[in-house]
Amino acid sequence: MCPVRTQRRRQYWQYLPNKLTFHAHISSQVLVTTSCNRSDTFLIAMAALSADQSRPLALAAAAGAGLLYTAQQLIKAITRRRDPALGREAGSSGGNGSLWQPNPNPKWQPPHKQPAPFGSDEMHTVDPAKLPTDAMYPLIISAVVPRPIGFVSTQNSEGRGNLAPYSYFNVMAHNPPTVAIGCSASRLRSHGRKDTLVNILETGEFVVNIMSEWFVEAANHCCGNFDYGEDEMELSGLTPLPHDNERSAESQCAVAGRGCMMTWKPPAHTSLDCNSTSCDHVKPRRVKESAVQMECVLRTTHEVKDSSGTVTCVIVIGEVVLMHVHEGVAGKSPSGKLIVDINKYRPISRLGGNTYGRVAGLFDLPRPDRGPTQQKLQYTSTAS
Ligand SMILES: Cc1cc2nc3c(=O)[nH]c(=O)nc-3n(C[C@H](O)[C@H](O)[C@H](O)COP(=O)(O)O)c2cc1C
Repeated sequence: MCPVRTQRRRQYWQYLPNKLTFHAHISSQVLVTTSCNRSDTFLIAMAALSADQSRPLALAAAAGAGLLYTAQQLIKAITRRRDPALGREAGSSGGNGSLWQPNPNPKWQPPHKQPAPFGSDEMHTVDPAKLPTDAMYPLIISAVVPRPIGFVSTQNSEGRGNLAPYSYFNVMAHNPPTVAIGCSASRLRSHGRKDTLVNILETGEFVVNIMSEWFVEAANHCCGNFDYGEDEMELSGLTPLPHDNERSAESQCAVAGRGCMMTWKPPAHTSLDCNSTSCDHVKPRRVKESAVQMECVLRTTHEVKDSSGTVTCVIVIGEVVLMHVHEGVAGKSPSGKLIVDINKYRPISRLGGNTYGRVAGLFDLPRPDRGPTQQKLQYTSTAS
């Protein structure tokens, strides 16, 4: 915030437009408050001038505000650096004006210390084996953050759909693309398995949809304790995508097709028992609202057991056999490969408790690499 003060006594203008975050008033003194990274200061200067051109203090306020604005622009220009990895200006918006920022410590050089901002070195040290069983959950889910959320669509053997969010989720490999989901034991089912797990074990298939801001409330609704066989896609109002064979030929998605999803198929050398053209997608429905959907087949499971031997979680490991990226979020890497554009994607993550997170405050840092002929570490880009 940039306050600008003069000594006027009388209130003579106040400007509170919806979107701009500044206001100005004069009582015992003129206080002009403005956000430093906008051109609002310039507008304030103009407003002050037009409010009372004959008064020197108003002119001084205007001149001061004008100077501040110029200084901001200069600081911006100086701190703007080109990122060697992506050719993007550090601190630039990357397209939507809000996501990208400079990295936190642009002047850091190895091996400078980067101390934590705490007054003491005191730690709470926890032995999970000695902790009450209900104490580890809030601790670990608030510590390991942010977690991506797999919004998992399955079907039972009778074709009934199921949809639920899982934040014990991540991608584990890319060749072949492999994902893992942790299905904690269910207290609601006598067999102890969540419906998602029951269906995956029954059919060997699932779809991971990625959650974006625009449908997070509906997706969150799907974590409710609904009866087995109740379809959360229906209950939440989310839209099941028809399978390719149910669509008209014209509306079928194609690789790099316009106005639809871009579909990636696994290369022929994949461990699937099919080749890239004849392989059909899995039966569970994809969520239309989701910008990225991954059709998966079950590869293996791992049972997590507590000290008494009770299964507390089953980790499902699946291979992505077909991946769909909506054209609305599709972007290109510097070498022209299909990527998901973070500025348009607006993915949601899971934090502790019931907290969700948005993506903001992004910055790039190139990786330190030592080539075979180089003695010294060099910061290079691995983005391709
Ligand atoms: C954002 C979010 C993330 C969740 N992550 C998990 C998880 O990783 N593992 C889990 O077992 N349950 C998780 N849950 C709870 C399940 O979604 C919930 O138990 C749901 O009812 C399971 O549905 P299902 O029985 O149809 O599979 C999560 C809930 C929310 C809202």
